[in-house]
Amino acid sequence: MKLKESIESVRNSFRADSDPFPTDIQSVETLRIKYLGRKGLVAGLFSGMQNVPAKDRPEAGQLLNELKHEINALFDSNRNNTDHEISPDDFDYSLPGLKFPIGHIHPLQQTMDDIKTIFMDVGFSVAYGPEVDDDFHNFEALNFPPDHPARDMQDTFFINPKTVLRTHTSNVQIHLMEEQNPPLRYIVPGRVYRNEAISFKSYCLFHQVEGIYVDKHVTFADQKGILEYFVKRMFGANTKMRFRPSFFPFTEPSAEVDIWSHKRKQWLEILGCGMVDPNVFKSVNIDSNIWHGFAFGMGVERICMLKYDIDDIRLFYQGDMRFLGQF
Ligand code: PHE
Repeated sequence: MKLKESIESVRNSFRADSDPFPTDIQSVETLRIKYLGRKGLVAGLFSGMQNVPAKDRPEAGQLLNELKHEINALFDSNRNNTDHEISPDDFDYSLPGLKFPIGHIHPLQQTMDDIKTIFMDVGFSVAYGPEVDDDFHNFEALNFPPDHPARDMQDTFFINPKTVLRTHTSNVQIHLMEEQNPPLRYIVPGRVYRNEAISFKSYCLFHQVEGIYVDKHVTFADQKGILEYFVKRMFGANTKMRFRPSFFPFTEPSAEVDIWSHKRKQWLEILGCGMVDPNVFKSVNIDSNIWHGFAFGMGVERICMLKYDIDDIRLFYQGDMRFLGQF
């Protein structure tokens, strides 16, 4: 077969021409054009295929491909050995640059930081407390009767019959009042846990910010003022809000705060609050004839979801950059 001989002769000539492999870019290019160019020797061999009898064509095609691979492989393996002065012409300045991903703060942390800043600006300090706590701090001292349904296995993760994963940050109210004498004024950010079915609106863990303010002349009106200030800074000066009577074992009277959503055309609850119940003061030996206080608690996920119109709480815990990257 004539083509076979031609293939061998091109191979031998390439081996001679490429040993040693040239090191300057111009000679490499000349070599490439001679063998792999559009009118080069390999292309010439491919056009010779027409004249090969049909029965020999598969074999000839295979030999030809082997030759082409051998030549390509040698160019590839020498790619980095070429002396090559880098000149401005080698760059395509219109190509997009490399992107370096920059880390940023998780939307929940951001929301928690915003809440902290708003209250610190009016004199609140920040305190933290235990996530694993005893029944006394999470329930009993907060005036939950022994048979209150919140102690039920449905809502609370029990470590043992006397130890729980805290169900709210209100346990830290008790720690603070045990450890310090009034006056005191704190906010308490942290994680809380509830044994609830996971869905778009509830998760087994979430975050709260608790507030507690105890002094001699603290009134419900003070509480309204502080919380109105908070709502307007968090959601905007024109936000409509209302206090709605409610119940918590540890506050009396108690209320919930709603804000009006123009988008959904409805009131949405954002926090619970109330005047510290005298029974709570009693459990930490504070004289409720002298000291008065208010407390409030809000869900950070809920605030964040309302503020940024997020519709599924699970998004906060999935680490999906398509979601997180938007903040
Ligand atoms: N602890 C309450 C809850 O988890 C919120 C709250 C805190 C209400 C303080 C009143 C006072 O829902």
